[in-house]
Amino acid sequence: LGLPAQPRPPSWWRRRRREVLEAAARGTPLYLYHLPTVRERARELMALPAVDRRFYALKANPHPAVLRTLEAEGFGFECVSAGELAHLFAVLPGLAPDRVLFTPSFAPRGEYEAALARGVHVTVDSAYPLRHWPHLFRGRDLVLRVDPGFGQGHHEKVRTGGRAAKFGLAADELGEFLQAARAAGARVVGLHAHIGSGIHDPGHWRAVHARLAGLADGIGTVAFIDVGGGLGVAYDPEADPFDLEAYGRVLAEARAAWPQYALWIEPGRYLVAEAGVLLLSVTQVVAKQGLRRVGADAGMNALLRPALYDAWHEVVNLGRMDEAEGPPADVVGPICETGDVLARGRRLPAGTAEGDVLLVDHAGAYGAVMANRYNLRELPREEVLDD
Ligand code: LLP
Repeated sequence: LGLPAQPRPPSWWRRRRREVLEAAARGTPLYLYHLPTVRERARELMALPAVDRRFYALKANPHPAVLRTLEAEGFGFECVSAGELAHLFAVLPGLAPDRVLFTPSFAPRGEYEAALARGVHVTVDSAYPLRHWPHLFRGRDLVLRVDPGFGQGHHEKVRTGGRAAKFGLAADELGEFLQAARAAGARVVGLHAHIGSGIHDPGHWRAVHARLAGLADGIGTVAFIDVGGGLGVAYDPEADPFDLEAYGRVLAEARAAWPQYALWIEPGRYLVAEAGVLLLSVTQVVAKQGLRRVGADAGMNALLRPALYDAWHEVVNLGRMDEAEGPPADVVGPICETGDVLARGRRLPAGTAEGDVLLVDHAGAYGAVMANRYNLRELPREEVLDD
């Protein structure tokens, strides 16, 4: 929408390289989170005047220090499982339930019961819960997740709208849904949509909001519209950062066009991706038939995104940042899968050697929380850095 977005200042880990190397010396694989960066992103979103309420999608990074930081900045939280709810309230015992949204997908009945008992906002994704467990919802206010019929995002596997996605009620099934809600004695007070993750074109939120507002007008009891998260992050340092100004403008226009509906958002990645790095140690450097591979002490077990989505993360050799580049190399992990490649064709320093510390950038979102113990490797450690 017009002006190019402002380039970001150098990453926090470049300014604090010595401390980052010290943390890595205590043991890798290690996720390191920089809380001032979380605060900075949180304040950017707090400053958007059109937004009435913000809920952090804690699936992106549920580290207790991150949750405390965002709570202090005024964020609420979006949870998708009983486990996330229990974790959130264990970390923040005094949190008002009104600051929490429960937005599960195909969750078992017991999880809705647990969420309703806590008094948080509960979202349903179809008429199934109302038809099969109507007693749970009698006299309750509900949020309805709608599939606006289209999805967006950095990869097909993270697009959550349209017929191919399992999420949300199709708009043409709204009449039946409302009947089920009436029969159960429940009231729809909010409409929700989240169409995908890693979206850079703010026009999509305009379309989502217009779709939901049109439906809300026909329902009559709706007080708020939640347009989900999905804000993109520039993983490539050469790429334009997310255009926050344009995002804010789109939301302001949407809010002004339907002033009767409060506007809620639930970002995850945007708040934490840049704040986190994954630190690894080089295990071996091997050239096989002319193909050079730099081995690391963790791969798809610690960071699943490259294997799952072909996601691109910058990798630097933190101790040799001023040295000359070597030939292209793949950065691979120790897992017994051909797909265990963190990065392809990267020009790491020629002198890269066993024991060097590799930094995988923008790993703060969907990093540690998606790590696994495949091959019975240990989970990565986590540490935080504050001012
Ligand atoms: N709200 C709902 C209902 C969601 O399902 C999600 C993410 C969010 C909010 C937050 O979306 P964000 O602002 O972080 O894009 N593992 C994938 C991303 C999966 C996102 C799942 N849902 C990745 O690493 O790219």
